[in-house]
Amino acid sequence: TRSINLAVIPGDGIGQEVVAQGLKVLSAVLPQDVKLETKEYDFGARRYHATGETLTDADLDALKRHDAILLGAIGDPSVPSGVLERGFLLKLRFAFDHHVNLRPSKLLPGVASPLAGQPEIDFVVVREGTEGPYTGNGGTIRKGTPHEVATEVSVNTAFGVERVVRDAFARAQARPRKKLALVHKNNVLTFAGHLWTDVFNKVAEEFPEVTTEYMHVDAATIYLVTQPERFDVIVTDNLFGDIITDLAAAVSGGIGVAASGNINPGREFPSMFEPVHGSAPDIAGQGKADPTATILSVALLLRHLGHNAEAERIETAVAADLGERGDAPRSTEQVGDALAARVAG
Ligand code: IPM
Ligand code: MN
Repeated sequence: TRSINLAVIPGDGIGQEVVAQGLKVLSAVLPQDVKLETKEYDFGARRYHATGETLTDADLDALKRHDAILLGAIGDPSVPSGVLERGFLLKLRFAFDHHVNLRPSKLLPGVASPLAGQPEIDFVVVREGTEGPYTGNGGTIRKGTPHEVATEVSVNTAFGVERVVRDAFARAQARPRKKLALVHKNNVLTFAGHLWTDVFNKVAEEFPEVTTEYMHVDAATIYLVTQPERFDVIVTDNLFGDIITDLAAAVSGGIGVAASGNINPGREFPSMFEPVHGSAPDIAGQGKADPTATILSVALLLRHLGHNAEAERIETAVAADLGERGDAPRSTEQVGDALAARVAG
């Protein structure tokens, strides 16, 4: 596209600060002839307190008209836990069928990792985004009694598993190492685990060049720390993916640089790009949040829309900037300015 009609959701806490820098870098990287239009939406804690709304049908209709969505972070201690998570973020992921939750991990030169020896880390997690234990399928009986029973059913459909597994194979096929690991827990979760394993093995036949392996999720947490270099692409269930991508972020530069895309590959609905970190109310308003994760999320957004050269320019700029960053703390704005200057120049 030669124009981008972007929905911008700064959200709560540091969301406002980091999104401003993401937009600054986006404007700087786009060539003159690509027209950028943005519309800001006020979702998050303030809107919830003012109106009781998190995300209405009318909001979804409005968002649907955009090419993509850039999100900062949603969440505030003044809102009970779960309200914005379910009422905004998960509602949007489900409504727009964001079944590929893409979370790359790359340890860039100059960035410290808690892992001794600074291994080569460059993998991407394809986390399923619309099924598993996230569907809200469950219930409680005998609530508040010593005999309370709570269920939280993990929903896995052949359709949902196959499309995300296929997406992960295609991504592995397109990378130099062509490796794909299925991460699950099929020794205990026998119903869902066997569905995932069967579908994975079936789709593998169509991708003979891709080297595959299966790993239990508990073992994966060990290898992500002891041998992260062995991973190329990982495909996994929604909840396992949530957990291992925080671990992945921690070993590859921290959540200050972890980007993500909530992708609807068929483009029936706009995809949404967001830093993996949250709204960090403890440091909000101080201008010290690292906008790099948001800026890298902008790169994912550009690649999704087919602006590959611009996406690469941002990633190259971030790598160069991190390599030269040193220990002196820089403000949110200074990092944004430095990256905007690099991508423009
Ligand atoms: C994430 C977050 C969300 C998730 C929460 C806030 C609902 O942890 O994007 O990883 O669990 O998916
Ligand atoms: Mn998470």
